[in-house]
Amino acid sequence: METAFDEIAQFATTADRDTRRSLIASLRKLANSLEDTVGTIHRYGHIDLEKAMIQIGMDLGIFKVLTGTDGPLTVEEVAQRTNVDPQLMRRFLRYYNTINVVTEVSAGRFEGNNITKNLTEKVLEAALHHYYELVSGQYRTMRSYLKANGYQNPTDETHTAFHEAFNTHVHPFQWMTEHPHLLDHFNTYMALRRQADLSWLTVYPVREETAGGGMTADRALYVNVGGGIGHQCAEFRETYPDIPGRVILQDLPATIERRALQTAGVENIAHDFFEPQPVKGAKFYYMRGVPHNHPPHRVKQLFANIRDAMAADSVLLVDETVLPSTGVGFIAASIDLTMLGAFASMERTESDWRELVESVGLELVRSYTYNASDNETVMDIRLPKSS
Ligand SMILES: C[S@@+](CC[C@H](N)C(=O)[O-])C[C@H]1O[C@@H](n2cnc3c(N)ncnc32)[C@H](O)[C@@H]1O
Repeated sequence: METAFDEIAQFATTADRDTRRSLIASLRKLANSLEDTVGTIHRYGHIDLEKAMIQIGMDLGIFKVLTGTDGPLTVEEVAQRTNVDPQLMRRFLRYYNTINVVTEVSAGRFEGNNITKNLTEKVLEAALHHYYELVSGQYRTMRSYLKANGYQNPTDETHTAFHEAFNTHVHPFQWMTEHPHLLDHFNTYMALRRQADLSWLTVYPVREETAGGGMTADRALYVNVGGGIGHQCAEFRETYPDIPGRVILQDLPATIERRALQTAGVENIAHDFFEPQPVKGAKFYYMRGVPHNHPPHRVKQLFANIRDAMAADSVLLVDETVLPSTGVGFIAASIDLTMLGAFASMERTESDWRELVESVGLELVRSYTYNASDNETVMDIRLPKSS
């Protein structure tokens, strides 16, 4: 058996990202196929404990202590560096070892591993605080919410599992504005979550599209609608410093005023995208991960506002998950149900996107996939040629 494991581990050292992903899925499937009743009880029964213990470990800096040193540390050393009762730390560390968050190398001695290191990354801390403090509330109310709604696919964004969880009538984005620490976690997560090589800029022919001579310094070149703190505007300006035209970030006032990056050559504008688009005739209106936060009737309104501002050569670029027709992966399927719980929204297939685009008189001209394993695709959407 050891040989079989060694061979897989050896294979994994040279596998690319996609291959490693499918290897993990296959190994999990194999592990689950071996599970007995007791295993299934405890795997699901303790899911919430796992999440809580990760938060506690991050609060105390346990993962940073273990990765910030060469070699293993004793329980007492970790306890002393984090100011925790050694008896309690022993209980924490032996639990973390069971979920592979740290590695027990010998009695009472532990060291960090790849997961320990992941848990020290800023993006991961922000993401897991976001999930723990905000999103997990709606998971708890999804059951009662869906039951009370007769298991109908929800489309009313004013009444979701989120609203039940937090006993509020305000939209989740407004809720975050009213709870700035939650908005900060969310914005940090959004800004840092993507790897630089997984970007629409690696596949979309920006230069060819702007080569026709229609660009001038005062025309908007790139408007990032719902662009968060402006990380993509900065990337765009850095990639194409020589293409004339304005680069504009738009988002809600709280995000623009509180956190927006001040990037040379980027204008930051507070704008609610359910209001008419104030920047007319831009070359590219771009949004990533924005329409999936909204049910169809709101997406139509959002698309229509941009359509009304488009010039004949404008392009609406929608950078989103495009679900395959079969074999949807764990991440996309989980985000789909998370969208349901928060916004009465969903992840969408290409035909779902096409239907929405065509319903407001636009055309989906072409799709460019830049991250096949996560189904991330930028869709090139235009006014019909005859209009
Ligand atoms: C899922 S985040 C995506 C952020 C960014 N586009 C990215 O991919 O990193 C959705 C963004 O839409 C913004 N947003 C939500 N409702 C909005 C509205 N009505 N008008 C403008 N921006 C809005 C949020 O503040 C947030 O920054």
